[in-house]
Amino acid sequence: MHDNATLPHAGTCEVHIPAGVYAETVTEVRHYTDRLFRFRITRPAPFRFRSGEFVMIGLPNSERPVYRAYSIASPSWDEEIEFFSIKVPDGPLTEHLQKIRVGDTVLMRKKPTGTLVNDALLPGRRVYMFSTGTGIAPFASLVRDPETYEKFDEVILTHTCREVAELAYGVELVRNLLDDPLVGEMARGRLRHYPTVTREPYPVTGRITDLMASGKLFADLGVPPIRPEEDRGMICGSMAMLCDTKEALEGYGLVEGSNAQPGSFVVERAFVD
Ligand code: A2P
Repeated sequence: MHDNATLPHAGTCEVHIPAGVYAETVTEVRHYTDRLFRFRITRPAPFRFRSGEFVMIGLPNSERPVYRAYSIASPSWDEEIEFFSIKVPDGPLTEHLQKIRVGDTVLMRKKPTGTLVNDALLPGRRVYMFSTGTGIAPFASLVRDPETYEKFDEVILTHTCREVAELAYGVELVRNLLDDPLVGEMARGRLRHYPTVTREPYPVTGRITDLMASGKLFADLGVPPIRPEEDRGMICGSMAMLCDTKEALEGYGLVEGSNAQPGSFVVERAFVD
């Protein structure tokens, strides 16, 4: 960790690290498609967060770095911090971020925040995590946290993308998780992954809102339609997806919660676009 210090960057120029920001080292970069990649950075020793929260990140490439909100995709017990990112052509941050390599520096503001946390939900039997695109990131954190399985008997992770290749991060996440020594045993038989695709053939096609409305989601999972007595929801995706999924959950009688007042579902935007 380098705090409020000056770091050598890219071999030549020196970069000032502002106060209130951690400067961390990239440990891994993996590109999934020409639009999606994940990267991992070192974790500052004093940094604490709740699984599902987000932080502001930036690059030390200018006097006034551009920061964007990123959900932390790794669980709170992990030694490193993982992010799953979209690549936006000409995006003020992602245009540069997509070029990072192992050993580069990423800036991370010190204060995590967010509502997609177990604390913002009332206890229940089953939690649905509804995601589209990079909206799976906070759930990648939560499904790897034992606390989620202590709170809920069943965890249903839905992930809808335009194309099959965009599901790869989630598919790999679930596969690795089931073999994980810490959470694998807790998750086995209790984590259900429900990937769907909207613009290519795939075993399940369609938006999650339509799959709920038609009842296909529940029929495929072998569960009753959502009921406020036992089901909880978390939603992360684009603005339009949040609005429509929220409306669907409210139609089942679920009530939105927050950190201050836990409820039966919570919502957060997948930020970078
Ligand atoms: P579609 O292909 O029908 O637009 P995006 O990349 O635009 O955020 O979309 C990611 C996924 O979310 C796509 O599969 C897309 O389906 C789906 N999606 C977009 N808008 C909504 C919405 N309002 N409700 C549910 N799913 C949506």
